[in-house]
Amino acid sequence: MSDSLGQEDTATKTSKTRFDKRVFSYFCTQQLNTSIVNISTMNKDIVLSGIRPTGNLHLGNYYGAVRSFVKMQEDYNCYFFIADWHSLTTHPKPENIQKSARTILAEYLACGIDPEKATIYIQSDVPETIELYLYFNMNAYIGELGRVTTFKEKARQQPDNVNAGLFTYPTLMAADILQHKAKWVPVGKDQEQNMEMARKCARRFNNIYGIEFFPEPQNYYFGGDAIKVPGLDGSGKMGKSDGNCIYLFEDEKTMRKKVMRAVTDSGPTEPNSPKPEVIQNLFMMMNIVSAPETVKYFDEKWNDCSIRYGDMKKQLAEDLEKTVAPIRERIIEFSSDTDRLDRIARMGAEKARESAAKTLNEVRKIIGFRQY
Ligand code: TRP
Repeated sequence: MSDSLGQEDTATKTSKTRFDKRVFSYFCTQQLNTSIVNISTMNKDIVLSGIRPTGNLHLGNYYGAVRSFVKMQEDYNCYFFIADWHSLTTHPKPENIQKSARTILAEYLACGIDPEKATIYIQSDVPETIELYLYFNMNAYIGELGRVTTFKEKARQQPDNVNAGLFTYPTLMAADILQHKAKWVPVGKDQEQNMEMARKCARRFNNIYGIEFFPEPQNYYFGGDAIKVPGLDGSGKMGKSDGNCIYLFEDEKTMRKKVMRAVTDSGPTEPNSPKPEVIQNLFMMMNIVSAPETVKYFDEKWNDCSIRYGDMKKQLAEDLEKTVAPIRERIIEFSSDTDRLDRIARMGAEKARESAAKTLNEVRKIIGFRQY
């Protein structure tokens, strides 16, 4: 009797110990998983932004957006991606596809986007996006897609190539955003209609299936954080046209030449006169890259009519060089190491796919399909 009791006791004890161990190791792995995967992203709002790989980043992109992305990666769970699928609407050459994506990738990294903090990836590396795109296309109406201004504009620009990809640009964008359930999307004013479509896609999906599944993504405005950089040709904003902008990769000589050629006027004729826009632009640029005393010095020269634009431009070029040089050096460094770029892109793709697959699996279940 006592023997069997003893045995029972031992058995209970053993299984209890085993159970405790299991529970203990379960908690350990839970904690471990959390610490590896989630600790840096836990409870942080999700931010997503995409850039089409057309050309290089310029100073306007840097001060208007990328510099703010660099700050955001500290406080948000950020996804930054290169929208190479979107660029197919204009049928780029196969040999340019990888090159353009890598160019932007290297430039993002050179500006300070950190692949350890943010998820940086190339759109075409995440095939899950396409499946969600298909589902959204089933719920989007040709009427509303046809009313999107960017579509109408593109259709006017390329009348011989008004393709379905162009037409469904907003649903692909919605898939980009909603596959990660992003809450904030930092984009320019020109993207507002596309953002409205993304919200419609989310809302409509939720309504059709009677479930609060997708959050409605919001436009994120940088506010005072973003600085508008004026163009060199006297026009309002720095854009991609060549004489008008300073690219981050540009060497000192080219940059100086561009600045020296910036549009000016014949100079002030009366003391303390208001500055015309072209001159205002030069001062604005100086405000961004030069020391306050430098700006003050030339401001005084303007006010007493002794300003020499040549001197001002020389100074501006010098200060621009100080700002751009470190970024340019890093661009060269990243661009020359394709293995490293590929490694970073692969790491980003892995993280993005994990997040997208999770969403998509739930979406498949909601729609009625078998889960993966
Ligand atoms: N349409 C954006 C542009 O032209 C690029 C883009 C594609 C995007 N997908 C996105 C931006 C998703 C934000 C979120 O600039």
